[in-house]
Amino acid sequence: MSVFSIVWDVFAIIILVLLMMALVVVVWMYIADVRQTQHTIKRNYPVIGRFRYIFEHLGQFFRQYFYAMDREEMPFNRAQRSWVYRAAKKVDGTLAFGSTVNTHQPCTVLFVAHPFPTLTEDSASASLVTVGPYCREPYTTDAFFNISAMSFGAISRPAVQALSHGAAKSGCWLNTGEGGLSPYHLEGGCDLVFQIGSAKYGVRDGQGHLDDARLKSIAEHAQVKMVEIKISQGAKPGKGGILPAVKVTEEIASTRGIPVGEDSISPNGHPDIRNVDQLLDRIQHIRELTGKPVGFKLVVGGTSFFDDMCAAIVHRGAREAAPDFISLDSGDGGTGAAPQSLLDHAGLNIRETLPLVIDKLKEYDLKGRISVIASGKLITPVDVAWALCVGADFVVSARGPMFALGCIQAMQCNKNTCPTGITTHDPSLQKGLDPALKADRVANYVLSMEQEVGVIAHSCGVREARELSRRHARIVTELGQSVPMDEFYSKAAEQNPVFRRPD
Ligand SMILES: Cc1cc2nc3c(=O)[nH]c(=O)nc-3n(C[C@H](O)[C@H](O)[C@H](O)COP(=O)(O)O)c2cc1C
Repeated sequence: MSVFSIVWDVFAIIILVLLMMALVVVVWMYIADVRQTQHTIKRNYPVIGRFRYIFEHLGQFFRQYFYAMDREEMPFNRAQRSWVYRAAKKVDGTLAFGSTVNTHQPCTVLFVAHPFPTLTEDSASASLVTVGPYCREPYTTDAFFNISAMSFGAISRPAVQALSHGAAKSGCWLNTGEGGLSPYHLEGGCDLVFQIGSAKYGVRDGQGHLDDARLKSIAEHAQVKMVEIKISQGAKPGKGGILPAVKVTEEIASTRGIPVGEDSISPNGHPDIRNVDQLLDRIQHIRELTGKPVGFKLVVGGTSFFDDMCAAIVHRGAREAAPDFISLDSGDGGTGAAPQSLLDHAGLNIRETLPLVIDKLKEYDLKGRISVIASGKLITPVDVAWALCVGADFVVSARGPMFALGCIQAMQCNKNTCPTGITTHDPSLQKGLDPALKADRVANYVLSMEQEVGVIAHSCGVREARELSRRHARIVTELGQSVPMDEFYSKAAEQNPVFRRPD
């Protein structure tokens, strides 16, 4: 018998065994499917019905890579993501042939190109803004694009490390998110905004109340520049932070001050802040305690909240009583985990609320006192320039920097299975995320953003990004023609009873 025929026989036996095993598995699946009562499709179409679940899962990947057009995916389309990826990798950002944007589409933003754009030699770097001018330690920065809140817990250790170093390299701030302050936030040496969520993670006492001593010691870190009270988050207004038990590791539990391996669910609001007066009291208390600028974050829901708040501030005195900043999040903001109903349908969009809130603050003469920070899918230079034109002092983003970290929009932040290591605590998935390399990517992204918003400003004939105003942009209406941004928003405000002053 030749060697060839022995190998052939062995091969044939292996194939036969595998076929037999496959047959046994199919028979086993068949019996299991017809006997179960949970899934109609599997019961009616045993074995073959299983392909539905496989294809449903694979469909999201196929759509992303093969079928979805450049500008049709949600939450972020390929064109948006590609801009961030190119910026983060510092590869050629130019495109060829022409725009793929349909500029007749209503709400498209068109910048008012000046016939004599600002020459490079006449351009300037972004001007400085001081937040909280009346507190003991005001915060002054020129960075108009910064990293929004993402808690340690929702995102992984290497992701926080990369963001911390990346923020330091690019000179922007990093918001800690509601999961407390960890050594990884401090590691890169960047400026930090410390966020207090409704569970007061990291600054809570045994009963979950704010522990002044803990907050004071956190605020004593020189890197902590401001304190933000999270009233609500765009993706889930009326729902607190949700961190599934699988993500509550020992380290995360100790940073938050909670038990290991149990779901970490924050209350759906602050038990100690139930009205405007309590909010202003809290802000004043924390500002006195820490000496640093204090503000709050919320998504606007269309109540008379802003009138009530502004009237109360004016009554108490803007210098002492006003929040130093307001972070306005968008109803379509991102999250680590949220119920679909809130994710999809609760809270107004930043495109609607930013102009209305800015105008409301101007109406009460508070715009100069309260800085406005805008967020919600503002991840490309056009989005950021839009917000600056409207009147925002700062823009922050969470998912933009996530793309810079390598996020592929796998939409698995609520599980422990993020394939890019950003929102998982599984070491085997985290190993692909090199904090040193990704810190450079984050820094490149932030710096490219600043640079390209500057390019838009120069095209509009002003020297730097912060000189952009409403006269530098136009908005396309339903007729397919554009009108000046100012006119567009005043008309929208007139028609919007949500923000009309109560009689
Ligand atoms: C993974 C993840 C975690 C987040 N964690 C927080 C948080 O702890 N606190 C908070 O106020 N917002 C949190 N957010 C919301 C963002 O800070 C931001 O407001 C929102 O995503 C809108 O910005 P974007 O569109 O640039 O992502 C989180 C978002 C993501 C994607």
